[in-house]
Amino acid sequence: MTAEQTTPKTTTDRTLAKALVAHWAARADLDFIQRDLERRGKDRARLTVADLANHDQLHAGQLTATRDFAAWVGVHDPLRVLDLGAGLGGAARLLAAEHGCPVVAVELSAPLHDCGAELTRWLNLGHLVEHRCADLLTDTSGVGLQAHEDRSDFDLVWLQHVDMHVPDKGALYARAASQLAQGGRVVWHDWLAGPGGSPHYPVVWSDGGELSFLTTPEALRADAQRTGLTVGRLEVITERTHGWFSRTHGGLRRALEKLPDTAVRRRKRYTSLALRMENVLRNLDERRLLPFYGEAILG
Ligand SMILES: C[S@@+](CC[C@H](N)C(=O)[O-])C[C@H]1O[C@@H](n2cnc3c(N)ncnc32)[C@H](O)[C@@H]1O
Repeated sequence: MTAEQTTPKTTTDRTLAKALVAHWAARADLDFIQRDLERRGKDRARLTVADLANHDQLHAGQLTATRDFAAWVGVHDPLRVLDLGAGLGGAARLLAAEHGCPVVAVELSAPLHDCGAELTRWLNLGHLVEHRCADLLTDTSGVGLQAHEDRSDFDLVWLQHVDMHVPDKGALYARAASQLAQGGRVVWHDWLAGPGGSPHYPVVWSDGGELSFLTTPEALRADAQRTGLTVGRLEVITERTHGWFSRTHGGLRRALEKLPDTAVRRRKRYTSLALRMENVLRNLDERRLLPFYGEAILG
């Protein structure tokens, strides 16, 4: 079957969609971001992508990882990028600001989408980054993605920490392939199931596994192949991911020790995050999770 013949029909289950929106809702907090910028003496009129990176890069490695991944992918001006599951659009803005790429950022959660669109206005990147609120698997004409006909507009589909949230990999890859120009690429910075068994939960993206749908390298290759995508490079990046989680976890523990007794909400949030990070580290040590970069070419 070629990519042209593949029409994804599956939409994300409503219960799953609601749970995903709830899980990430706290990250859509413009007031919190604004206050943090003020505290750090950042001028709203002169913001850079780096100034927002603690808030808008919702993946392992944050800004460093996005830059590293962009270098691995070989992003160059003016690749047309479709960022699926864009969150707050941190990567979309980086690709626009640092590589001049026009990016369409598709996000399921309305609060994340709205917050991300506002951050794009703060950085004056509206001419390059377009935000759309849609289920990446659903063809909601005029709002989300259009079904592929005989050509498409994108050179790159960017999947950063979103594959793990999508149960139907065939539908995801078919959707991604359907948006690509011939010779275009789908690229992943995501998580795979490792040989060590099921992960320990909670992790950062899921409390008990209900939002986590991990595929194996072999299944990824086979599912992608069925949609006309050929997976070439696939690199497991355990060491650098482990390093980032170790450092970040250490920083979080030190911050926890310094918190005053009155900071009850922050203590709760940091404690929960620290536990999730400890589980990720254990999962990496036991090869239950494989963080990876991947690339597939259409045609
Ligand atoms: C871990 S966050 C990563 C966000 C962003 N890619 C980043 O790296 O900063 C995963 C995002 O994928 C979004 N997502 C999950 N399933 C989706 C779907 N079916 N359609 C659109 N977005 C989806 C979630 O709402 C969430 O914002």
